[in-house]
Amino acid sequence: MSKTFYIETFGCQMNAHDSEKVVGTLEHEGYVQVEDEADAGLVLYNTCSIRDKAEQKVFHRLNEYKRLQGEGKKFGVLGCVAQQEGERIFEKAPYVSLVAGSASYRNLPEMLRRLEAGETRITGLDDRQTDQAFETEFIARTNPNRGYITIIEGCDKFCAYCVVPYTRGKERSRTSASVMVEARRMADMGYTDIQLLGQNVNSWRDPSGRMSFAELLTAVGSIAGIRRVRFTTSHPRDFTRDIVEAIDATPTLCDHIHLPVQSGSTAVLHAMAREYTREWYLERMSWIHGAKRDISITSDMIVGFPGETDADFEQTITLIDAVKYDAVFAFKFSPRPNTPAVHMADSIPDAVKSERLRILMDRQREIQREHYGRHLGQVVEAMVEGYNEARGQVVGRSTQNKTINFTASGERPPQGSYVDVRITQTLPNSLVGEALMNAVPFVPVRRAADFVVLN
Ligand code: 5AD
Ligand code: SF4
Repeated sequence: MSKTFYIETFGCQMNAHDSEKVVGTLEHEGYVQVEDEADAGLVLYNTCSIRDKAEQKVFHRLNEYKRLQGEGKKFGVLGCVAQQEGERIFEKAPYVSLVAGSASYRNLPEMLRRLEAGETRITGLDDRQTDQAFETEFIARTNPNRGYITIIEGCDKFCAYCVVPYTRGKERSRTSASVMVEARRMADMGYTDIQLLGQNVNSWRDPSGRMSFAELLTAVGSIAGIRRVRFTTSHPRDFTRDIVEAIDATPTLCDHIHLPVQSGSTAVLHAMAREYTREWYLERMSWIHGAKRDISITSDMIVGFPGETDADFEQTITLIDAVKYDAVFAFKFSPRPNTPAVHMADSIPDAVKSERLRILMDRQREIQREHYGRHLGQVVEAMVEGYNEARGQVVGRSTQNKTINFTASGERPPQGSYVDVRITQTLPNSLVGEALMNAVPFVPVRRAADFVVLN
């Protein structure tokens, strides 16, 4: 049982993809992944500390597994809580032997060997100043349809509320050549859907100086076999007009931009150190609204940031009315260790935060109820992600990143295939439809990679 491992992932897509790399690295080191922690010699948590709820979940889970300690299992904590709490984790959970932040993963093989040799206090915490991105050819891609590629790691923006610059270290971009090699390799393996990842994906700067971010999007979208390219998350500061022009010009680039605004009030944005104003953000929205394609727009929002007045909050409501987002992820402000916002005056009572969150989500639901109506009667391409057996429906995703539940007469289209669907009903969070009669789904052919090149 010593060379088996179980891994559980919390948090964002960056973490999910980091776990794919960790799994690939462990498998290369001779470990076998198991689905149940009871069968594992090594239990790993890839953790998230973006808000306190996420962090509490990790310690709760570690506590639950305390009882397994007697069975000779080893425990490791990876990711943002590991980086943030560091060696304090050994005090809180003495049965943990390995604590490593994401900037240290390239040293995992060495850390694993020390773990095997019986060491019990192994840390990988000192690499946040690194200039290197974690590139590995050993990636266990767990999503059968979509391939993730990290193009930039870390963050240098230091928004006043956010732990990421402290947990993931400074910004470091991969070269365009290295990104293109990985994207072509994925296309060769039969992936049709690629998602470029970065905490601030559009802050990517080619270290070799060859391409802009918009040019990289176009280049990835032009690889034979690639049908959909997404990128997340973008930052308004670095959002340039050529990104919208690239989407307009390149059919494979998805009709979707996730551009978190966080607040509609310039005063709150200033306090958050976001370094843009409401007007600056709305100008970027006007570029997207002016595009030839119907580009869906989604955002993250924080309510109850210290000092946020009723009038500030009202500005957030008027902003969502003006933009007409296709989805909004809204959060109550959560004070995080080491961040400047922890010490800011005028904290907002939790009851007020909850009330603002409710008002925001209710309003956004109404906007979506109305705004999704534009899809009624349209023919929309769905990529098949699964099946709802109970309802007899196929579950797919549109290029705008909307869920489409649809029926298909005859043989059901396979996972990962693309089907044209007529939209017959729109709901606030999804679309309902029927596959076009006589439509032949496009079914990609999956091939195993027989060799690996990295540069
Ligand atoms: N409190 C609440 N929400 C936060 N986010 C980041 N940090 C905090 C925090 N301290 C939200 C932001 C970000 C998303 C990933 O999480 O909206 O865009
Ligand atoms: Fe956090 Fe701001 Fe960096 Fe996003 S840009 S990861 S919110 S510090």
